[in-house]
Amino acid sequence: MSDSADSLQASWSGWKTQVEQALAKYLTTDGGLGGECPPRLREAMSYSLLAGGKRLRPVLVLMACEACGGNSDAAVPAACALEMIHTYSLIHDDLPAMDDDDYRRRRLTNHKVFGEALAILAGDALLTLAFEVTARDVRPTAVAAACCADLAFAAGACGMVGGQVADLEAESQTDRGTKMFEHLQSIHRRKTGRLIRSALTMGGRIAQADVATLGMLDHYGTCIGLAFQIADDVLDVTGLEDKLGKGVGKDAGLGKLTYPGLIGVDRSRQMARDLINEACLAIAPLGERGQRLQAMAWFVLERDH
Ligand code: IPE
Ligand code: IPE
Ligand code: MG
Ligand code: MG
Ligand code: MG
Repeated sequence: MSDSADSLQASWSGWKTQVEQALAKYLTTDGGLGGECPPRLREAMSYSLLAGGKRLRPVLVLMACEACGGNSDAAVPAACALEMIHTYSLIHDDLPAMDDDDYRRRRLTNHKVFGEALAILAGDALLTLAFEVTARDVRPTAVAAACCADLAFAAGACGMVGGQVADLEAESQTDRGTKMFEHLQSIHRRKTGRLIRSALTMGGRIAQADVATLGMLDHYGTCIGLAFQIADDVLDVTGLEDKLGKGVGKDAGLGKLTYPGLIGVDRSRQMARDLINEACLAIAPLGERGQRLQAMAWFVLERDH
């Protein structure tokens, strides 16, 4: 492992632990969810939220905050909120009405264990808790409001939810027309890219970064966000279930519009590489402070899980 990959892994694992402890606390009666939460709902929420996963998005929030000279501890609530929204998106993505998957994060999917109704509601509750946490625990209030707006835009009709709708619609579109590539890019930017970008902008806002720095983070986040989903598509073709903790080889069967499906694995990898180079260039002015973000960008490209 290179020095920068080594140092990325070290800080990643420390921050992952910090985020996981905070997530667990948010699900307790005293630390977040009140006593009126039905026990089975709390169980369904915990089942998916505390199931591990890379925690890439929350770690990016902390990393962006630190790269802008902020104290990463202050970014933990926003980091947790983003992970709650991401986890909700996974629970719903796995439902029979969507991708109909049986495994996620090395365990049975939420609906397989709790049933579809509770899986839908656990997702809803995680989404709502994310905004409660952001509005209540991010400081100062103006930054909390800006983070709520970032999250809402990234998760909503023009972001993840809209991208998921377009992703499902594309399954049944056999004649996808001449603008297929642009459409594919737009799906991936919305369904995955925007939430990842929000990690960067929220981290920057919490560190009180100036407009120019926020612009750099935004650009970096847009590039790695799209590259992340390209890599996910490639891993569905080339990856191993053991490493990924979820099923592979499903996209083609579902008729998904994917990068490897449209342009092949090699060109997809090249496209992701170009995006990672662009991301690294965007944050080059951060110099030393951006080193971990640079290493993270390469992880997104080279990952096997
Ligand atoms: C999977 O996200 C869903 C996509 C947006 C591609 P991750 O690969 O980050 O999943 P976890 O959080 O590590 O489980
Ligand atoms: C998921 O994309 C994007 C989300 C918004 C959850 P995929 O459907 O490709 O994610 P995986 O492969 O199931 O993790
Ligand atoms: Mg999907
Ligand atoms: Mg899926
Ligand atoms: Mg996938």
